[in-house]
Amino acid sequence: MSTGTDAHTPRRTFAIISHPDAGKTTLTEKLLLYGGAIHLAGSVRAARARRHATSDWMDLEKQRGISITSSVLQFPYAGTRFNLLDTPGHQDFSEDTYRTLTAADCAVMLIDAAKGVEAQTRKLFQVCRLRNTPIVTFVNKLDRPGQDPFDLMLEIERLLNIHCVPVNWPIGMGSSFRGVYDRMSHKILLFQRVGDHGQSVVDMREMSVDDPSLPELVGETLWKSTRDEIDLLDAAGEEFDVEAFREGKITPVFWGSAMTNFGIEPFLARFKEFAPEPAPRNSSRGLVHAEDKNFSAFIFKVQANMDKAHRDRVAFMRVCSGSFQSGMWVRHVRLGKDIRLARPQQFFAQERTLVDEAYPGDVLGVFDPGMFRIGDTLLTGESFVFDAVPRFSPEHFGRLRVKDPSRRKQFLQGLSQLVEEGTVQQFVVPGQEHSPVLGVVGQLQFEVLEHRLKGEYGVEVYLEMLPYTHARWVDGAEATVDNFEGKGYGAAVFDQDNKLVVLFKSDWALSVAERDFPKVSFHNTAPIVIAAAK
Ligand code: G4P
Repeated sequence: MSTGTDAHTPRRTFAIISHPDAGKTTLTEKLLLYGGAIHLAGSVRAARARRHATSDWMDLEKQRGISITSSVLQFPYAGTRFNLLDTPGHQDFSEDTYRTLTAADCAVMLIDAAKGVEAQTRKLFQVCRLRNTPIVTFVNKLDRPGQDPFDLMLEIERLLNIHCVPVNWPIGMGSSFRGVYDRMSHKILLFQRVGDHGQSVVDMREMSVDDPSLPELVGETLWKSTRDEIDLLDAAGEEFDVEAFREGKITPVFWGSAMTNFGIEPFLARFKEFAPEPAPRNSSRGLVHAEDKNFSAFIFKVQANMDKAHRDRVAFMRVCSGSFQSGMWVRHVRLGKDIRLARPQQFFAQERTLVDEAYPGDVLGVFDPGMFRIGDTLLTGESFVFDAVPRFSPEHFGRLRVKDPSRRKQFLQGLSQLVEEGTVQQFVVPGQEHSPVLGVVGQLQFEVLEHRLKGEYGVEVYLEMLPYTHARWVDGAEATVDNFEGKGYGAAVFDQDNKLVVLFKSDWALSVAERDFPKVSFHNTAPIVIAAAK
C-alpha cells in the first residue's frame, strides 16, 4: 500500500461521526477501495464482524494485542493523502471517541437516510462544534426507501443548528436511486448497478443536465420531479461557500449509498477539494501553524494493552508542525525531558507499519512505557504547551469499593494513576474525600478500569453505579456548593483540578437548574487548565 509519506503530498485528516449502524464501517471501506488502499471491499467489515461476534471484549483484545479501534487509516486519493481517524463506536464508545475528534481537522457526518439525525451523531456533532470543526454531511443508504431529502436537511438544520447546502442531489431513492446531480458542475452522474454487492468500484456515466436522453434513461416521472427539485434549490440560491464551511457555519451535503458504492466517487472528488489543510493549533505561545519549521505534536489518546503479558501501551500523537524522522530526539515538555522517538508506527486496520517520516496532519502511534498522558506536547525548538485536550461530561457514574480492604493503598495509587491517564474522571464530594465518584463517557471505560486495577495493581473492586447522567462545570458568582447541594438538582462535587461541578440525574434537572440560575454558566467540558511549559 502506498501511504504517500513524502513531504509534498498534501494531508487531509478527518474522522467520521455517526450513530451505530449508519454505515461507518461500510463507508470507511469504500473510501479505502476508491483510494486504492484495498482492492476488494469486505476485509474491514469482516474484521469488524469478528469483533462484534464476541461479547468478551477483553479476550478479543488479548488475541489481537491491540484494538482495531485504535487504527488510523490512510488512503491516497488524487494526489492527496487522507488520514482517517477511527472513532470508536458501538460498545467501544468512550471518551476516546471524543478526544480523537480533537485531533481531526474536519469530520464527515454520516446519516442514515431513513433514521435521520440520531443520538450519538448529535453528541459527536456537539464535540466538533466546540472547535468549529468543519463538517461534511453524507446521507447514506439512498438505495433504500428513506425520508424525503428536503425533510432530512430540515431535520439536520433544526436539530443541529447548522445550515445545509446540498453539493449534489439524489436522483430517486430506494430501488429507483439512479445517480446524483452535481450542483457545482451541473453534471448528472448516473451509476450502473453491478452484481458484486459493491465489492468493486461502480461504473459512473457523466452527462449534461440538458442531455435529451435523460428522461428515457431515468424515467419520465423521476426525471421531471428531479428537475423540479434542482430548480427549487437553484431558485433558493443555495450556493456552496467554502469559507463558511471551513468556519463551521454550513455543512455541504452529499447523497449516496456506501453499500452499492453509488455516490462515493462524487463525494470523494469534492471532499478532496473542500477538506481543510492541517489546521493551526492553539498553545501557550499562540497559534502553531503546520508550516512552522520546528516539529510539534500532541498526544490525544493512550491505548492500554489489555494483555497482561504485554503491558505496553500505545500513545497516539498528531503531528502539528515541522517534520518527524524516525529515531529523532524530541522534548517531552511536561516531563522537561528529551526523549528519542524510536520505532513509531502507523496503523492500517490490524497491521502496524513502521514509519520513517511524518508531517503535519499525520498520526503516529508510539510505544509508551508509561510516560505519556493525554494532552502532552512533544516538540523540538522553543518550549511551549498545546492547549489541553478537553475533558468531556461523563454520562455514567459510579463508585468503587475494594474487595480486600488490605489492598486499599494499592487501590488509591492505581486509581490516581488511571485518573491521570484519562481512563476515567474523578469527582470528590465535599466531606467524602475517601470515596470519590467516578465518571465515564462510555460504560466500557469502567470495564477497562476494573480490568487494569486487577491486572496492574492486583486490586479487585465492586462497582456501584450512581444515578447521574450529566456533569456540568459551573462558573459565575452564584456557582457555589450551597446553591446546588441538597436542593434536588443532583450533587455538587469537585473535579480533579478542584473545579466545581454539578452532577445531574436528568436533562430535566439540568434544565431546572439552568432556569433557576440564569447567571451561572453550565459547561459540558472541563475548563482548559494550561500547564506551564518546562
Ligand atoms: P456502522 O459501522 O456505522 O455501525 O455501520 P456498518 O457499516 O456496519 O453498517 C450497518 C448495516 O448497514 C450493515 O448491515 C450494512 O451492510 C448496512 N449498510 C451500510 N451502508 C449501507 C447502504 O448504503 N445501504 C444499505 N441498504 N445498507 C447499508 P448489516 O445487515 O448489519 O450487516 P451485513 O449483513 O450487511 O454485513
